[in-house]
Amino acid sequence: MIFDPITICNMELQNRFVRSATHEFMAEEDGTPTSRLEDLYGGLAKGEVGLIITGYSYVLPGGQSDAYQQGIYDDRFIEPYRKITDRVHRYGSRIVIQIVHGGRQADISDEHPVPIAPSAVKNGRSAIVPREMTEEEITEMIEAFTQAAVRAKKAGFDGVQLHCAHGFLLSNFISPYTNRRTDRWGGSVENRARIVTEIVRRIKEETGGNFPILVKMNATDGFQPGTAKAELGLDISQAVEISKLLEKAGVCAIEVSGGISEAGGVTIRTAINSPSREAYFKDYSKKIKDAVNIPVILVGGIRSVSVMEELLENGYADLISMSRTFISEPDLVLKLKSGEAKKARCVSCNLCFDPKGLRCNFEFDRS
Ligand SMILES: Cc1cc2nc3c(=O)[nH]c(=O)nc-3n(C[C@H](O)[C@H](O)[C@H](O)COP(=O)(O)O)c2cc1C
Repeated sequence: MIFDPITICNMELQNRFVRSATHEFMAEEDGTPTSRLEDLYGGLAKGEVGLIITGYSYVLPGGQSDAYQQGIYDDRFIEPYRKITDRVHRYGSRIVIQIVHGGRQADISDEHPVPIAPSAVKNGRSAIVPREMTEEEITEMIEAFTQAAVRAKKAGFDGVQLHCAHGFLLSNFISPYTNRRTDRWGGSVENRARIVTEIVRRIKEETGGNFPILVKMNATDGFQPGTAKAELGLDISQAVEISKLLEKAGVCAIEVSGGISEAGGVTIRTAINSPSREAYFKDYSKKIKDAVNIPVILVGGIRSVSVMEELLENGYADLISMSRTFISEPDLVLKLKSGEAKKARCVSCNLCFDPKGLRCNFEFDRS
């Protein structure tokens, strides 16, 4: 099944493998994509990854969250991205750009000294208190995401993925922990999801309606159960309701993840050393898949062919998404297809976060 094709809206994929969005630390300081990125995505396409999702790409200059992160906030990025999409398409893979604003987790700088967020809820990790966005700023943000999607289409991307996970701006809106607003952008599930459904509506208006829009979203903020923060945070029943609203808005597929940075160690877990520790968000994706009719993509610690097959066969997901495995083995799909390997070699050590550029820094014993 994992090698069977699938269509997401009008996007035909050669198999069920997705390279989950992964920040590469390979853009110029201003966010311009580089030839290193072109080579990296080209390698994944050559390795027959059905769908490649780029690293998170910021839609406004103040929305950056890490060094050497790629941007999509200006038309000058269209040409360099065009080189990347051309290279990927030569191999028959599809490529979608993940678009983001850092929100409460944005970097601070002289130009942007205070991060913006739906509400002024102190970030327990950085100790920074963001500033509550005005109604006008929310409207501007919707336009920034929309224009980013318009640029993505011009650059030849097969679609966009809205980053609504991991504690960045859209995730801040969806979560009742970070969104305490009492206007039409906060409160009910529908109000908290409104910024996302409005972005979807506007992208459809501006791109002609058939440009695929995907969403990566949290099924939980990831706080320790039983704590006050967990009581306030996003839970799976709300995530299911949000998924239904996204489907109704015309989203083509939902990638299920979890965790915000403040909850610590939830999103990118270490020590995935047995099949039982793999696919750590699968119970959430099952609930979402049971509630919607659009494809569900599962990410988080998936490593073995046996687990992948089981996830697809037993209705936990329609597509298998991985990040760290493809850093270590861009040709993993080919190895699994030929039978040369039955699982990824990734040991989930997280040494791949390398500001000099994404790479597997684990010393494998190759003797
Ligand atoms: C180096 C690195 C960078 C990441 N950057 C992003 C990102 O830009 N956007 C995103 O949604 N998730 C990002 N993630 C999270 C992954 O997409 C994925 O959800 C997580 O690593 C769990 O999947 P895995 O076990 O297959 O690595 C990143 C993960 C790693 C290791």
